[in-house]
Amino acid sequence: MSALNRLDMRNISIAFGEFAALTRVDFTVEGHSVHALTGANGAGKSTLMSVLSGAHSDYSGDILLDGEPVAIRTPRDAKRLGIHLVQQEVDVALVPQLSVAENILLDRLAEPGVGYRWREIRRQANTLLAQLDVQIDINQPVERCTLAEKQQILLARALSHHCRFLILDEPTAPLDQHESERLFAVVRRLQASGIGVVFISHRIHELKAICDRLTVLRDGRLIESGPMAALSGEQIVEKMLGHVLTDIYPPRREKQPQPLLLAVEGLHDDKLLQEISLRLHKGEILGIAGLAGAGKTELCKALFGASRSRIARGELHGKAWRPRSPHDSVSQRMALVPEERRKEGIFIDESVAMNLSVSADDSFSRWSLFGHRQAWRWAEEIIQKLNVRTTGPAQTLRRLSGGNQQKVAIGKWLRNNADVLIFDEPTKEVDIKAKTDLFSLIDSLARDGKGIIYASGEFSELVGLCDRICVLWDGRIVAEMEAKEATEETLLLYSTGGTPA
Ligand SMILES: Nc1ncnc2c1ncn2[C@@H]1O[C@H](COP(=O)(O)OP(=O)(O)OP(=O)(O)O)[C@@H](O)[C@H]1O
Ligand SMILES: [Mg+2]
Repeated sequence: MSALNRLDMRNISIAFGEFAALTRVDFTVEGHSVHALTGANGAGKSTLMSVLSGAHSDYSGDILLDGEPVAIRTPRDAKRLGIHLVQQEVDVALVPQLSVAENILLDRLAEPGVGYRWREIRRQANTLLAQLDVQIDINQPVERCTLAEKQQILLARALSHHCRFLILDEPTAPLDQHESERLFAVVRRLQASGIGVVFISHRIHELKAICDRLTVLRDGRLIESGPMAALSGEQIVEKMLGHVLTDIYPPRREKQPQPLLLAVEGLHDDKLLQEISLRLHKGEILGIAGLAGAGKTELCKALFGASRSRIARGELHGKAWRPRSPHDSVSQRMALVPEERRKEGIFIDESVAMNLSVSADDSFSRWSLFGHRQAWRWAEEIIQKLNVRTTGPAQTLRRLSGGNQQKVAIGKWLRNNADVLIFDEPTKEVDIKAKTDLFSLIDSLARDGKGIIYASGEFSELVGLCDRICVLWDGRIVAEMEAKEATEETLLLYSTGGTPA
């Protein structure tokens, strides 16, 4: 019966002050199905799902469960009805000092009258993680977990309840291709068991792979809702943006011999990285390909001096050099856009302008703001260049959507007029238009003679954007190739430790 296990949102509107975040949006999810929810950064996806999960009490419109009106005004209401959300910003839902097991069963522990029975908690946590086919040490504190693990912990928590509807807000953003595949298998299993899943993502190929229905929002309004198969990837992008997007990548730059900018030989760290050697020329975009755990982030941090490493030989701007500290790197005109941008050096309760005006160096050490007018102008420039959706430079970061926070976090690192820029997974949570803007920005930096290191698990981006690509596997560079000779398949093969037949 189609009337069973069906959740309808009708005419949902919500405003934050003057700003209408959602205007009369309808949304339906049914059991046994995976429903894609997509739209550009700031379209209203997270807001719509936070309404459904009881985060807001001040929306208008109706929610019906199996045709009957239900009141969802608090998280408790939603949970009681079997609606569970795995947030986009995983950290806000976790208690960093508590163990993995406690975080998974946090809601249980918070119930009055439930004693801590450790053995039982651990057993349940292990069972839930086994269902997800992941292995995490359940005794370690969550603060030591990777982003991917944190997301899996929240998923396990959702499944610890009687779950009829599961909302996953950009669950694959911290996952690599293999981890994403594993998550898809779990999602399919949940779907088969009757759960209705809402899946938010900016990666259209993922939505195509696992969703059977699709809803597109734009500027807080419903643009499209229907079967996934009815629209092609290009058509979905067009619905999201309101216009066609043709060239995602900038045209290839002519390769000319350029002076060496940075060279590293024999880099090691104490944990993972071994015998890393690489060379970066002026005007070059060097890709670092790798799956999660391959060492991309470790390498970026080591090069920037943000983690300890040893090198046999190094050169920067034609002089002997070795990574020392972030402070030293900034003074040598290097910049790092770190992967965990929300954790490293953004101030969530400060304005966009303030966030963009604290220099990269300062977020590691001291503060020094540049003049107010200058800060404002810079903020406006970045807002425009990266298409940040905000009411203006004065808006606090907390009020921005997840993807727009990411853009601000990227923007702040671009101020330092660096010659060597290191990007660690810069397109995470960023919509396709913003990706295109970012690629053209990186391309123009390269045209200006800067050297770019671009670390990513998105192999299509590496192939589309870079000049040369090094593949990392298990802390070592296992292959190096010209980007025009690389394909996603070869990158995947090398990054799983394989060699071409
Ligand atoms: N508490 C708030 N106060 C003011 N504005 C808000 C608040 N929460 C969200 N917004 C605004 O509502 C709009 C929709 O935000 P939302 O987080 O739903 O976008 P999203 O579609 O999830 O985007 P993303 O892909 O970047 O995650 C954004 O413009 C955001 O700035
Ligand atoms: Mg969001």
